[in-house]
Amino acid sequence: MRLAVLQGAGDTGLVAVDALRPEWDVQRCANLNELSAALHERTPQVVLFRADEALVPLESLEGLVAGSPLVQWIALVTPEELEDPRVRRLVAQTCTDYQTLPLDAVRLRHTVGHAAGMGRLRARVMEGVTSPSELGLVGASPVMLKLMRGLEKVAAVDAPVLVHGETGTGKELVARAIHARSSRRRGPFVAVNCGALPPTLIHSELFGHERGAFTGAASRRIGRIETARGGTVFLDEIGDLSAELQSHLLRFLEESTIERLGNGDPIRVDARVIAATHVDLEGAVAEGRFREDLYYRLNVLRLDTPPLRERGDDIELLARFFFQRYRSESAPGVRGFSREAIAAMQQHPWPGNVRELLNRVRRALVMSERRLIGAADLGLDRRARPRRQETLERARIAAEREAVLGSLRANRNNVTRAAQQLGVSRVTLYRLLDKHGLRSHGAAEAQ
Ligand SMILES: Nc1ncnc2c1ncn2[C@@H]1O[C@H](COP(=O)(O)OP(=O)(O)OP(=O)(O)O)[C@@H](O)[C@H]1O
Ligand SMILES: [Mg+2]
Repeated sequence: MRLAVLQGAGDTGLVAVDALRPEWDVQRCANLNELSAALHERTPQVVLFRADEALVPLESLEGLVAGSPLVQWIALVTPEELEDPRVRRLVAQTCTDYQTLPLDAVRLRHTVGHAAGMGRLRARVMEGVTSPSELGLVGASPVMLKLMRGLEKVAAVDAPVLVHGETGTGKELVARAIHARSSRRRGPFVAVNCGALPPTLIHSELFGHERGAFTGAASRRIGRIETARGGTVFLDEIGDLSAELQSHLLRFLEESTIERLGNGDPIRVDARVIAATHVDLEGAVAEGRFREDLYYRLNVLRLDTPPLRERGDDIELLARFFFQRYRSESAPGVRGFSREAIAAMQQHPWPGNVRELLNRVRRALVMSERRLIGAADLGLDRRARPRRQETLERARIAAEREAVLGSLRANRNNVTRAAQQLGVSRVTLYRLLDKHGLRSHGAAEAQ
């Protein structure tokens, strides 16, 4: 039977019980402890509670609400209580619905039934988006759903894939998900960071070498592409590959053969390539740092991992997901996030994206001394940053944008000359163009 828990004494309680039975099993709780125990032991679908400070401190209630996201909370309030801004906030931000007293049995039955339906819907959404058995990606925002649809499509074919996105947006996670959904899932998934090794080492890392191929090559080494035979090789930071390695890679993509260093014989290798980059490869092609033919070859199937700041409510979903995942590391008694923390997360620009969110939640779990993680525990306390600094920050950003625009104009959109004038590298200037959304302004026409 469906279970509703009721915290509310006297006539209010009696009316509510009468209205809901026998359809609902109604458990009554006299105080916060009983309510907390009922939540843990019986997992009710709906909780009805009196938002009366004299009965239960509002902050404790907020804690219980945050700690049980799949329960639907319905507040029972008097019109006078709704005059209290804290009650209004609790009701508006954490409850599924509310009823004003005195209670009306018909209306209450309807509200409780509706809330339960809402709860089922929410449970299905949470299940769908947080279950690791799905793609392993948490998110339900339109940009993420688009990414997930794209992912399913590219997983079904065997061509190379390019994953593009800012740092920490989940490029490697996406690559692993493609592999896991592909026909190669039983084969190996081999990840290589092309930017982490010097060019001399990366060559033999990727393609292998024979004994004596160069000084210090004491024995034969099998390269990572060969190791990925039958599976997928994930080439991270592909934009960092040298021109020579780019041509070797292109050859591998076209002919499925590689050569070990020190041996000119082609070796057939059946491995799928998934490449990732956080830089804009089109810009690198325009500057002659990346082979155009290789770019087109890789760019046939392209997935973009969106920045966290464009994912809306996913920020909260992800925060709760990481909260659950790392909960065992936390101080005991931490129940969830305060409303203030959620609001601060929504406003933060997240330059480090999902990885930054993960790190902040993890740190907050260890550091928090309260039941609810606050903005300060996440390092997002706005009071800690004086307003003046915010204004200064904005002024800096505006000045930077102005300088970039001005110099592009002065140099007729020639990126090389504009970069020289500004005293930055072309790569940095491209990054600035992206940051300020000026790509279409200058870079498109730039040589
Ligand atoms: N949608 C998501 N759902 C759950 N976890 C995610 C999601 N996106 C990213 N993560 C987690 O965030 C962390 C960073 O993701 P990942 O390493 O895949 O990003 P990246 O784009 O490769 O970063 P970098 O550019 O720094 O290499 C990982 O721990 C990953 O599991
Ligand atoms: Mg990565």
